[in-house]
Amino acid sequence: MTQAFRLLGLSGSLRRASNSTAVLRGLRDALASKAPLDILPLHEVPPYNEDDDGEHAPESVRALRSAIETSDGVIMISPEYNHGMSGVLKNALDWASRPYGQSALRGKPVLTMTASPAFTGGVRAQQQMNETLVSIPARLVLRPQIVIGGVHEKVRDGCLVDEAALRFALAGVDDLLDEIGGSAVSSSGGMSVTTATPLPDAPRRAIRRTRRGDEKSEQIRSTATELFLERGYDGVSVDEIVRAVGGSKTNIYNHFRNKEGLFVAIVKGLCEDFLAAFVTIDVSALSIEEGLRTLALALLGILLQDRHLAFQRLIIAETARFPALGRAWSASGPQRSRSIIAQFIEKQQRAGRLRRSDPHQSATLFHDMIIFDLLHRAMLGDKPSDDEIRHRVDTAIDAFLHGFEWK
Ligand SMILES: Cc1cc2nc3c(=O)[nH]c(=O)nc-3n(C[C@H](O)[C@H](O)[C@H](O)COP(=O)(O)O)c2cc1C
Repeated sequence: MTQAFRLLGLSGSLRRASNSTAVLRGLRDALASKAPLDILPLHEVPPYNEDDDGEHAPESVRALRSAIETSDGVIMISPEYNHGMSGVLKNALDWASRPYGQSALRGKPVLTMTASPAFTGGVRAQQQMNETLVSIPARLVLRPQIVIGGVHEKVRDGCLVDEAALRFALAGVDDLLDEIGGSAVSSSGGMSVTTATPLPDAPRRAIRRTRRGDEKSEQIRSTATELFLERGYDGVSVDEIVRAVGGSKTNIYNHFRNKEGLFVAIVKGLCEDFLAAFVTIDVSALSIEEGLRTLALALLGILLQDRHLAFQRLIIAETARFPALGRAWSASGPQRSRSIIAQFIEKQQRAGRLRRSDPHQSATLFHDMIIFDLLHRAMLGDKPSDDEIRHRVDTAIDAFLHGFEWK
């Protein structure tokens, strides 16, 4: 059985001839019925006022919250106003994030993009959007940013028509759909998901997410995580998960669509858990050497744990026949840890302490120098000692900063 995901589009511009909204229309037309995209105008949403919130929130706000909750994922686009995101969109996000602890966007897959007549494409605005969305907390699609520069030349009759820009944005939508379903996605203008077991008649998108629903999905996820880590993907059936968690199979299908969807959610959740401490390390006040050493030792400390090694073996075993899993792991795991290192390298470059290079490329080289060999040895049962780890890290830092060439 195939079933399309339902997407919601929010534009940060109220302008009739808005280029941002035109981008959403272009995507909507390209996706057509394969992943219907409903664009919700934000004209009626009033400026946020906590006095008006609560049970008697304005109708437009209730409509906004409900549209977000009943969608499978959201595409948000903002113009850049004075180097920031549009106030209209920020205001809508503020409403959507309340009441406290019940954000409509909590865990919701969100793809962000910006567009501007300038060649910078509103990239600064996107940075702000992402920061706000993380605090809400939405499930941001982790991928290279979609910025559309010179957008006024790419739009005709209120619709994005430029082929390259459309392709670029559609690749992001594919990643969003991947994030939502973790199943087969086609990049050629749409998607479909094959569910192993048919869903009950009520469409999944019509199910309103509640705090209890979140708790149930968390319970399913954490119980299934331990089962999968212990016995592998094939070693665990949906029936066994149901027996361990309680409830019925419908709970699993409602929350995760199918066993594969649950598995992808587990992979992302585990990546988040493993990297939770790493992403908050503050190395900003440290020297280059100390900063790199701190990051490297922290990361190795995480990756060489037995639990992570079991997880890594599981990924390797299953990815060949289940590529969405590898993509989910790559985006939530190594790409994320590399980007933390890249941020540090970029800051050092800006401060003139490192020569200019692509920070992500440099971070990847450093990351792989410290990780690859030690992790593989550990996976093969030969765990390096603390002294070996320190020696390897120091050698890698020296090679990274000074190379091996005679000067
Ligand atoms: C108040 C204001 C501030 C703007 N600041 C920026 C800016 O900082 N960077 C930029 O790229 N464009 C800036 N622009 C240009 C907008 O990106 C441009 O008007 C864009 O087309 C608006 O989006 P829309 O077409 O979706 O309405 C600004 C426009 C306005 C009205």
